[in-house]
Amino acid sequence: MILPARTPETSLLRVLFLGLSTLAAFSLAQMELHVPPGLNKLEAVEGEEVVLPAWYTMAREESSSHPWEAPFLIWFLEQEGKEPKQVLSYFKGSLSNKPGVTLVHSISTRNVSLRLDALQEGDSGTYRCSVNAYDSDGKNIGHSIKTIELKVLVPPAPPSCSFQGVPYVGTNVTLNCKSPRSKPTAQYQWERLAPSSQVFFGPALDTVRGSLKLTNISTAMSGVYVCKAQNRVGFAQCNVTLDVMTGQ
Ligand SMILES: *[C@@H]1O[C@H](CO)[C@@H](O)[C@H](O)[C@H]1NC(C)=O
Ligand SMILES: *[C@@H]1O[C@H](CO)[C@@H](O)[C@H](O)[C@H]1NC(C)=O
Ligand SMILES: *[C@@H]1O[C@H](CO)[C@@H](O)[C@H](O)[C@H]1NC(C)=O
Ligand SMILES: *[C@@H]1O[C@H](CO)[C@@H](O)[C@H](O)[C@H]1NC(C)=O
Repeated sequence: MILPARTPETSLLRVLFLGLSTLAAFSLAQMELHVPPGLNKLEAVEGEEVVLPAWYTMAREESSSHPWEAPFLIWFLEQEGKEPKQVLSYFKGSLSNKPGVTLVHSISTRNVSLRLDALQEGDSGTYRCSVNAYDSDGKNIGHSIKTIELKVLVPPAPPSCSFQGVPYVGTNVTLNCKSPRSKPTAQYQWERLAPSSQVFFGPALDTVRGSLKLTNISTAMSGVYVCKAQNRVGFAQCNVTLDVMTGQ
């Protein structure tokens, strides 16, 4: 391989460029916030707790007594179409936090992980952690921001079961099932319990709407029908009893 001869101009540019990027790296990398790889998008279940992990490091240590810097920490919650909300802040020994929101570790550990207790669906959003570090003269010596996206999932709430139609032999009836709340959206299954148990599939079963269409019903189709509403964080069920009647 033949390398092009270096002209003095390009060498000078290179030196300048290296010099500038070193300077920039030096002043920006004084402090850095870290979020473990892959944990900047978290999912958790409503009612449970979650820890948003974050910590900072200082590039240049000025004293052997740690930490020598005074951190100004703020955790914000950003949600679509809403003003950012401050959920926790800390500066010089004074902590201000929303109920159910705490720091996992003492601030002196430089670990600023946030714990959220008794999660609600409305706690979903982008959590932005901002740390400014000040030296003993009050001079800002570093700033870093990281975000973690939190999605709070909701297991299906108990569904309600009902049926449409008058269950005479030879008619059609539709069984309906609906869970009022779940995230992600619940999928539905219907089954008839013993003695004549049966599991149902499409096209009679609509797993999205929760309906089961029974056509030309017979007395053998009488029984207890159980609907299960399910998503990946849980399930709930309801039942309805079908008594198929003969005659008019
Ligand atoms: C900071 O705290 C979180 C939560 O306890 C933990 O998962 C993480 O490993 C800690 N980071 C460091 C660098 O110790
Ligand atoms: C019952 O359902 C079947 C199949 O969908 C349909 O052909 C029939 O017309 C329905 N009967 C009544 C009474 O609605
Ligand atoms: C309805 O069911 C009865 C008894 O199982 C059967 O004889 C009849 O042909 C069925 N009717 C239709 C429209 O499928
Ligand atoms: C049917 O639902 C009721 C509550 O609505 C419940 O008490 C009962 O145990 C259920 N039965 C079956 C067989 O699932």
